[in-house]
Amino acid sequence: MPAPAIEMINITKVFPGVIANDQVNLRVEQGAIHALLGENGAGKSTLMSILFGLYEPDSGIIKIRGKRVKIRSPNDATALGIGMVHQHFRLIHNFTVTENIILGLELRRRWGNLDLRNAEKRVAELSETYGLSVDPLARIENITVGMQQRVEILKILYRNADILIFDEPTAVLTPQEIDELLNIFHRLTAEGKTIIFITHKLKEIKAAAGRCTILRRGRYIDTVDVNAASESELAEKMVGRSVNFRIEKQPARPGDLILKLEDLTVTGSRGVPAVRGLSLEVYAGETVGIAGVDGNGQPELAAAIAGLLPVKSGKILLKGRDVSRESIKNRNKDGIGMVPEDRHKHGLILDFRVDENLILKSFRGKNYSNPAGFLRFSAIAKHANFLIEEFDIRAGNGPATLAKSMSGGNQQKVIIAREIDLSPELLIMSQPTRGLDVGAIEYIHRRIIEERDKGRAVLLISFELDEILSLCDRIAVISQGRIAGELPAGEADERQIGALMGGLHG
Ligand SMILES: Nc1ncnc2c1ncn2[C@@H]1O[C@H](COP(=O)(O)OP(=O)(O)O)[C@@H](O)[C@H]1O
Ligand SMILES: [Mg+2]
Repeated sequence: MPAPAIEMINITKVFPGVIANDQVNLRVEQGAIHALLGENGAGKSTLMSILFGLYEPDSGIIKIRGKRVKIRSPNDATALGIGMVHQHFRLIHNFTVTENIILGLELRRRWGNLDLRNAEKRVAELSETYGLSVDPLARIENITVGMQQRVEILKILYRNADILIFDEPTAVLTPQEIDELLNIFHRLTAEGKTIIFITHKLKEIKAAAGRCTILRRGRYIDTVDVNAASESELAEKMVGRSVNFRIEKQPARPGDLILKLEDLTVTGSRGVPAVRGLSLEVYAGETVGIAGVDGNGQPELAAAIAGLLPVKSGKILLKGRDVSRESIKNRNKDGIGMVPEDRHKHGLILDFRVDENLILKSFRGKNYSNPAGFLRFSAIAKHANFLIEEFDIRAGNGPATLAKSMSGGNQQKVIIAREIDLSPELLIMSQPTRGLDVGAIEYIHRRIIEERDKGRAVLLISFELDEILSLCDRIAVISQGRIAGELPAGEADERQIGALMGGLHG
C-alpha cells in the first residue's frame, strides 16, 4: 500500500469564541475522491484552509504522502502539490484564460510572446488530458461560470498539483454542469490525482465519492465507505439525529390571481437590465418557484416586487391594481410580505432586540403605540413572546435578545415570523434557507406549506433545485432575466429544468 495522500491527525483550531476544529482526523488515500460532509459551520472550510496553508492549526500533525510537514502558506501547499478551488473564483474578467492561469507565476519576467504561446500550448494540453474543453484564448467575461471553474482547476493543474481540494464546487452550477464536474473528478483520479470534495449534498457524495468523512460542530464524527452507507445514515451522522427528507403536502388549490407581472424590466446595480421583460402569475394558495443559477436577475426581481428597486418598464399588478410606483410601506399595507435574500442588510436590524425586530413594520400601529406616539412596551413584549413560541425561535434572553447574538437560523425565523404575522396575501421568499442548518430548514419548509394552505400566494426564489422541486406547485425557470420556461411541479424533471437554466429556451 502506498502511503495515504493526506493524514491530518488531531487538528485543533480555535477562533475567538468558537472551536472550529476540535481534534479532527482526516485520512485520504492516493487517487481517491474523498468527500468532506457537514452542515454549515461544521468546520470543513477551516480544515481545508489549514491543509492549504491559509490558517495554522493550534495543534495537530499533517503528513503528506507519509511525510510529516509544516504548511505555513499557500506557497508551501503548492510546493507540496496541493491546490484548492475556492467557493468564489479569483479570476480577472478582461484577461484570457491563459493569462489568468499564469498570473502570479511570472511576476519577475514580463510575459513575452513566446512565454504566452508556450503557456497557451500547455493549457490546451492539460485541458485535453482531463477533458475540460477550455479554450486557452477565451476571455473570462465571455465564458460560463462552469467554464470559469474549470479555469480554476487548470490553474492548479498548471502548478502541478496532485491533491485537489474543492470547497462546495457545485453550489454555483446547473445540474448538467454538476454531472460534468463529477465526470471531471473521475478523469482526474484516473490520471492519479487525489480529490477532496466538500459538499452538504448527499446525492453528489453518492454519485462521486469513494469514502466520506463527516464533521459536526467542529468534531470528527466518522469516515465511511459511501457505497455501504445510505443517504439517511449519512444525514443522521451529519445532523446528529434522524432527518425527514419527505415534505408532506396536499395538492394546491389555487384561488384568485394575486400577483401578475407584465413584461417587467428592472435595472440592476451595474446599470444594465437584470430583469428583462419578465411575465409571471401567482395565484392564492399556490407556491410558485423561481429556479435558476445565481446571477440571472433573481435578487432584482424580488427587490422590484417589494419596492426596493424601481421598475424600468412593465407592470406589477397586485389583485389587478398596478403597484409598481408605490412605496415599500404601501406595498406592505397592500399585502406584500418579503423574506429578503440578504437577511442582515434588509431583514433585520442586528443591533436591535428580537421584540424590536418583530415590530419593525408595525410599531406605528395602534397596537404598539399610544395616541401620543409612545411605545406600548407590555403589548410589544406580549407579541414577541407569542411569536417566539409560535415560530420556535431560540432566543436565550427572550424578547430582549439582541438579533446579532443569534444563529442564522433563528435570525431567519424572526424575519419569517414578522412577515407572516402581518398576514400578507403575497409572500416572497428569497433564498429562505441558504446557509441554515437542517433543523431550521425543515421548520421553514413546513411553514411555507402551511402558509400556502392558508391561501397565501407564495413566490419562492431559490438556487437549490431540490428545495424548489419539493415545495413548489409550479416552477418557472429564470435565465438572463426572463422566464425561460414554466412547468407544473409534478411533470418537472431535473434535466429539463437544468437545460432551461442553462439558457436553452423550451
Ligand atoms: N476566520 C474566522 N474567524 C472566526 N471564526 C471563524 C472563522 N472562520 C470560521 N469561523 C467559525 O468556525 C466555525 C467553522 O466554520 P467553517 O470552517 O467555515 O465551517 P463550514 O465550512 O463547515 O461551513 C464556524 O462557527 C465559523 O463561524
Ligand atoms: Mg465552508
